[in-house]
Amino acid sequence: MTKAETLARRRQLLGRNLSIAYQNPIKIVRGSMQYLYDEEGREYLDAYNNVAHVGHCHPRVVQAGQRQMAVLNTNTRYLSDLINEYAANLTATLPDWLNVCFFVNSGSEANELALRLARAHTRSKDLIVLDHAYHGNTNTLIDISPYKHNGPGGQSAPAWVHTVPLPDLYRGLYKSDDVEATEKYAQHVNEVVAQVGADHLCGFIAESMPSVGGQIVLPENYLGKVYSSVRAAGGVCIADEVQTGYGRIGKHFWGFEKYNVVPDIVVLGKPIGNGHPIGAVITTREIADSFDNGMEFFSTFGGNNVSSAIGIAVLQTVVEENLQSHADTVGSKMLQRLCELESRFDIIGDVRGSGLFLGVELVRDRNTLEPATDAATSVINEMRERGILLGTDGPFHNVLKIRPPMPFTESDGDRLVETLAEVLNRSYRSNRSYNH
Ligand SMILES: Cc1ncc(COP(=O)(O)O)c(C=O)c1O
Repeated sequence: MTKAETLARRRQLLGRNLSIAYQNPIKIVRGSMQYLYDEEGREYLDAYNNVAHVGHCHPRVVQAGQRQMAVLNTNTRYLSDLINEYAANLTATLPDWLNVCFFVNSGSEANELALRLARAHTRSKDLIVLDHAYHGNTNTLIDISPYKHNGPGGQSAPAWVHTVPLPDLYRGLYKSDDVEATEKYAQHVNEVVAQVGADHLCGFIAESMPSVGGQIVLPENYLGKVYSSVRAAGGVCIADEVQTGYGRIGKHFWGFEKYNVVPDIVVLGKPIGNGHPIGAVITTREIADSFDNGMEFFSTFGGNNVSSAIGIAVLQTVVEENLQSHADTVGSKMLQRLCELESRFDIIGDVRGSGLFLGVELVRDRNTLEPATDAATSVINEMRERGILLGTDGPFHNVLKIRPPMPFTESDGDRLVETLAEVLNRSYRSNRSYNH
């Protein structure tokens, strides 16, 4: 089918609120490592899709899946060495007390399960969430995702959800020039903890680097302070590592390690199956035992033989191909080059991130921080025309989001930065004004 026919068919057959990337949609027919190919054979450098963590169609992952599909794929009520091996390999990457795994099929299912675990353990429901967060697509997760329930079509938060300000040192309530910013952000959490009280507090959930919130790096001691406050009131701390885990941030394997904290529950999704639908929750024996209250936990597909074989292959590939240190090297250089662009183009208000998890925030005015949302949209569309795929995020959709498959190289990074400079140069001069 032509691209136009495919588009028309999709419009007819699929729900319209499933959005389509780019003004000029792309029909992708093949992927290989950090590259995607359209129906005419045009190659795109993928700087956006973090799900294909070890690379689109990585041969080792494909083989692991194909081999296991030809042997057995059944549910987890039968004994299997594969699920045990996968759980052992996963827990080996985490601090010792996070040693019990549950397997499901998506990040949403994993967050749902994390909430059930937290509620079973604390026998409470009230949850503290960061503003602008996104944790998944189910009813309950929309309730804890301000990005959704405060956005178009949303119906705001239920009473058991307590939203605290996103600790964004660039655009948030307290900025980097405020030496007490971390303390002030943490104080919002302390206030909710005091107001909710130990009898009702279930816990706190946050991404280790809020992605939908705009590729935010949390202030260094924020999670430490928040975790102490929440735990002192009997709550549990959940780290949503769906976007930040598996070495993506370069310096650390897990996002939370950057802040020297250890969560009570870790939630995994997107990259761990490299595109195969796997979600996982890892917690302490104590919390897992509280959840073991007589009601069986079962997921028909979660942790099946094929998923486990694929999960094992993905993790082995991350380790054996040294993708974490690769992300550190490539990401650090790209971050430095993007900071150089920031000094040339006033439209770049902030550059941030770690490893291959980067954000470039575009503003119309560096003093008022007025978001340059239209510019961000046109930049990603122009980049797409030049064969480089990026996305936008943040509450104002003005943050260019860079999260490529991990095989992304230094020269891919150079190409991205040079093409971005070319696009900005055409429309957004560095002389404190730009054309629309
Ligand atoms: C941080 C975070 N948590 C959870 C989810 C939900 O994952 P899924 O779409 O696999 O259900 C997402 C998806 O974008 C996410 O970004």
